[in-house]
Amino acid sequence: MVANRQKPILDDAIDRIDNPALRRLIESEVEKLRGSRTFGLLFDRHMPEAARLSNHPVRKGVTVALRDESSTDTWTVERFTSTVRAVAVLDDGSERPVSDLVVVRAFGDPVYPGLRSVERIERTPGQPWHTVINGENYHVLQALKSAHLGKIDLIYIDPPYNTGSDSWIYNDRYVDANDRTRSSKWLSFMERRLLIARDLLKPTGVIIVAIGDDEQHRLRMLLDQVFHPQNFISNIVWQGGRKNDSRYVSNGADYMLVYAKNEEALTQAEIEWREKKPGVDEALDKAAEIWAATNGDHAEATKRWRAWIKDFKKTGVASDAVTRFVSLDADGRPIRTDGNLTSPNPRPNLQYDLLHPRTRKPVPMPPNGWRYSRETMSDLVERGLIHFGPTETSGVGGISRLEEMNSQVPESVFVRDRNASSARLTEILGAKRFPNPKDPDVLMRWIALAAPDDAVILDFFGGSGTTTEAVLRLNAEDGGTRRSILVTNNEVGAKQAKALRKAGHHPGDPDWNAWGVFEYVTRPRISTVVTGKRPDGSVYSDGMSANVEFFDLHYLDPGTVRRGREFAAIAPLLWLEAGATDERIGEPTESGWALTGRYGVLFDTDATVRFAEAVTKAVLDGTDIRVCFVVTDSDTAYERALSRLPQGVPVKRLYEDYLTNFEINTQGGA
Ligand SMILES: C[S@@+](CC[C@H](N)C(=O)[O-])C[C@H]1O[C@@H](n2cnc3c(N)ncnc32)[C@H](O)[C@@H]1O
Repeated sequence: MVANRQKPILDDAIDRIDNPALRRLIESEVEKLRGSRTFGLLFDRHMPEAARLSNHPVRKGVTVALRDESSTDTWTVERFTSTVRAVAVLDDGSERPVSDLVVVRAFGDPVYPGLRSVERIERTPGQPWHTVINGENYHVLQALKSAHLGKIDLIYIDPPYNTGSDSWIYNDRYVDANDRTRSSKWLSFMERRLLIARDLLKPTGVIIVAIGDDEQHRLRMLLDQVFHPQNFISNIVWQGGRKNDSRYVSNGADYMLVYAKNEEALTQAEIEWREKKPGVDEALDKAAEIWAATNGDHAEATKRWRAWIKDFKKTGVASDAVTRFVSLDADGRPIRTDGNLTSPNPRPNLQYDLLHPRTRKPVPMPPNGWRYSRETMSDLVERGLIHFGPTETSGVGGISRLEEMNSQVPESVFVRDRNASSARLTEILGAKRFPNPKDPDVLMRWIALAAPDDAVILDFFGGSGTTTEAVLRLNAEDGGTRRSILVTNNEVGAKQAKALRKAGHHPGDPDWNAWGVFEYVTRPRISTVVTGKRPDGSVYSDGMSANVEFFDLHYLDPGTVRRGREFAAIAPLLWLEAGATDERIGEPTESGWALTGRYGVLFDTDATVRFAEAVTKAVLDGTDIRVCFVVTDSDTAYERALSRLPQGVPVKRLYEDYLTNFEINTQGGA
């Protein structure tokens, strides 16, 4: 039967189920699945990981896990065996020393993040601060959501590639190599973070995600889902080396998937990605030097220029896009004279006689006519932008000047040896401490292309801190004021973790933490690059003019923190929201308000009038007040403050119980 041939196999199979109840049940479940099916990536979403709150006290009723991470089981604490609370009785009846336990919060239980400054390096007072945060990025992203929603220009991330390897300082075995749900777990992990990342981007924002062969194809589909296919910009291929021991193909490529938050917004803002042609500055300088040395003798200058170009080609520095400019114009500027003047399609207005300027005879017209209308062509001839040979039959071409054609769009494939960046990092740290860091030169190139020079740039899989170094160096090179926010965890490699466990240490102990990515790699690397001195005091460089602050993400326990006392923990988040420039308002003040050159906080609405006067005066004096926070639970008091503060200054309300403003872990999960 024709109809049956068309019937989906699944429907056909369901029809053959004899038990009517079972048939209906399966039918309805299949319908549900069909309703939710999209063309694209299908994967089982997994619940977010539980948050481990290592500094929280183990109390009756809390959920706990083993501090040494030897099992993923969790329990509820029922009671303690004595009043000193050294041993907890768990809900399965077992007893465990409290020192073996850590408090965990499953997804859905509120968690309250705070930032604690661990180091400040100030070398350029008054300039914005780069920030480096040690913490679980899912929580940091949620914490940044209030401060940075729609404010990030560029996100660059280089997540674990899900290769299953655990031989590195950070574990790429986010999911066990033998786990059949490995990809779906990794995709769930990525999706949660990418959804927040999208919200953090400006409408003209861009995300670049580095990835390897293991997950590249799935990640691209996930990015299509999160960012939409129409916002895809490129899949850049970085050929970084050769593996000659490969059996079939040397798969030495890495990828960078690039998406716009909204490509239309980029088009509307007339944003184009262009970079200087490699070697162009050198070539222009050389042409000027030759012209000066030959006193404007055109024939001699051209001879020397062509000889130099021939040698320059061999160096491999410049592409054809530069070395094709083999002629010099009447003023000694490099030009090419072979621009295509042929029309692609025959059109009557493009068919006319073009006269040779000396012989006054027509130059043979191409079969489809000329590329430009008669008027445009006359204008080009007049401006000296059309090249004629000695006679009308010796060819004609468009002239372009190298100094005007000095930029190009980047290609989607590039080659650069990956080993160089490992050697550089080893030189900074004085030892090999991190595998396969990305290359700061590569990141500098793509950051310069994809973001403005005052961009806010976020990397939430920061690793060794390459993105921060790239931003610092780019600013130093072009005078930009880009600001970076880097987030990484402090995970310890599997081998080191085994040794530490054997020595009796646990995650969260100072001896354990000292070996983590943040403490052992990221912090010393960035500090060395900025100060010019390694932690052992040896000199690395002259340092850089920049400010960097390092933070730990920590989790506040609403049960133990007295109301109002936790402002210090959220103070950095408010300062970040105001642009991370100038001083920070760290504590509530006696006067009930505080104001810096960037933001203000009204702690006590009884001080509204004085606060509003101070803000108004600052604005009239031209101070760039980016935001004012008003702390109150009262709608009326908030409205009153709002009406008193000058228009144009964004005002944000904070509840008096500060923690509730930053509650996370309850939304946005699978
Ligand atoms: C591939 S590496 C990034 C390398 C980096 N691009 C560089 O050049 O050094 C990924 C990093 O993300 C960190 N990481 C993995 N999962 C994380 C998480 N959930 N939160 C924060 N950092 C995480 C790992 O510690 C690791 O250092």
